[in-house]
Formats: sequence, C-alpha cells, structure tokens
Amino acid sequence: MSRSLFAAGLAVGVVAASAAAAAGPSGAEIFENGAPSGAPACSACHGADGHGSDDGQFPAIAGLDAAYLAKQIADFKAGRRANDTMAPIAEMLTDAEVAAVTAQIAAMPPAPPKGEGSKAGDAIAKVGRWDLGVPGCESCHGVGGAGAGAHFPALAGQKAAYIVAQFGEWRSGKRNNDPLGLMKSVADRLDDADLAAVAAHFEAARR
Ligand code: HEC
Ligand code: HEC
Repeated sequence: MSRSLFAAGLAVGVVAASAAAAAGPSGAEIFENGAPSGAPACSACHGADGHGSDDGQFPAIAGLDAAYLAKQIADFKAGRRANDTMAPIAEMLTDAEVAAVTAQIAAMPPAPPKGEGSKAGDAIAKVGRWDLGVPGCESCHGVGGAGAGAHFPALAGQKAAYIVAQFGEWRSGKRNNDPLGLMKSVADRLDDADLAAVAAHFEAARR
C-alpha cells in the first residue's frame, strides 16, 4: 500500500471510530439521568458534583482516574467487591456505558477539602507506622494523596467515614479486589485510632 493510501485508510478508520463514539451513550447523560441499559443516574447517590455524601455512605468519585473507576465497576460485577447497593448497578452498565461514564467522572473537579484534618494523621500519611509494618499512605497513593495512575486512587478530599468503612470491608473480606492484597495488609495492621486520624487528614487535604 502506498503511503498516501495508508494515510487515507487511517483517516477513514478515525472517522468511523468517532462516528461510533458519537452514536454511543453520553457520559454526562448517564451521570445525570441514567443509562439506556436502565442503570440509575449516578448523581442520585454520588451527588450532582460527584462529591459523595459527608456520612461516607456514598464515596466522592469526581476526578478519580477513569481506569480505576472502571476497575471498581468490574470488581462489583465480579463480586470481588460486595455491596448490595452498587453491585446491581454495576451489573446493569454495558461496557460502552462504563467507558463513557468513567471518562465523564474522571473529568469532573474533585471534592474540596473539608474539616480540620489531623496532625497525627498527616504523619501516618507521609511516614506510616513502621513499628506496625504500615508504610506511609503517600508511598502508594501519591504525594498529598493525589493518586498515582490507574492502580492507586486519590484519597485527598475523600470522605473520612468512607475511608474508615473501606478498611472494615478489607478486614472482613467484603472488599477483596486489591492487587497483591496491598490494602488488606495495611487495613489489618493499622489500629482504629490511627485510622480515624489518617481518614480525617485526607478528607481535609486539597487535590
Ligand atoms: C443507589 C445509590 C447509587 C447509585 C445510583 C450509584 N452508586 Fe456508585 N456507589 C454507591 C455506594 C453505596 C458505593 C460504595 C460501595 C462500597 O462501600 O463499597 C458506590 C461506589 C461506587 C464506586 C467505587 C468508588 C471508589 O472510590 O472506589 C464507583 C466507581 C461507582 N460507585 C460508580 C457509580 C456510577 C458510574 C454510577 C452511575 C451509573 C453510580 N455509581 C450510581 C451507590 C450508588
Ligand atoms: C503498598 C501500597 C499501598 C499503601 C501503603 C496504601 N495503600 Fe491504599 N490502596 C492501595 C491500592 C492498590 C488500592 C486500590 C485497590 C483497588 O484496586 O481497589 C488502594 C485503595 C485504597 C482506598 C480505597 C479508595 C476508594 O476510592 O475506594 C483507601 C480508602 C485507601 N487505599 C486508604 C489508604 C490509607 C489510609 C493508607 C495509609 C494508612 C493506604 N491506603 C496505604 C495501595 C496502598
């Protein structure tokens, strides 16, 4: 194939791909009004801004990495993360809907900081508790809890009560989706006072 024919072929491919994307579900539409598959509007629980609820029942999801979000939806579907509310919704979403809505959520501004934070929590975030075998959270979750790629979600601005609840899920095995058991080992070793402190620290951190 000559170079110009090859380029023309590529151009046709690109046009076809963007036409398919345009015909698919819109991420914003799914987030605000629900999906064609019947999955309900994400905003109904996660908030119109995707900032979650202060009681920690609904996590802040705005601005989290798209691939991390898609992995969580796959984990709910597969039962690696058990939750009676979110799992049935994940099961409804088609692959195209997941791709569209996770791109939308990732592009939304993250939740702003809230509360006083905690000095003790800040130390646990940065240096950990090596006497208990717990590394600093930031060594995986990025400086300031800003997140690192698809595998380590941002924690800054996340609801403290949700962070505490997830540690309970790992300890009990209801959340069993962390690569190499990295979070299960942290959750099992950190005590509740340190957990409360580090959770308050991250809720008050700005991303
Ligand atoms: C009826 C309420 C409800 C609706 C509607 C809802 N969710 Fe959720 N979602 C939850 C709950 C509750 C959790 C926390 C589950 C847990 O504690 O493990 C959650 C957790 C999540 C998580 C994991 C977040 C994280 O930080 O790991 C993702 C991703 C998610 N939801 C995406 C969505 C998307 C996308 C939609 C819209 C298609 C949606 N949710 C609609 C209740 C809801
Ligand atoms: C050795 C690496 C590592 C360390 C250290 C670590 N984490 Fe994690 N953490 C992970 C991974 C990996 C995930 C994502 C698991 C998954 O795929 O669901 C995660 C997920 C989380 C989540 C779930 C976020 C969400 O949106 O649902 C919370 C909360 C969390 N970590 C808190 C902490 C805290 C607090 C500390 C410090 C005490 C900490 N982590 C230390 C690797 C780590």
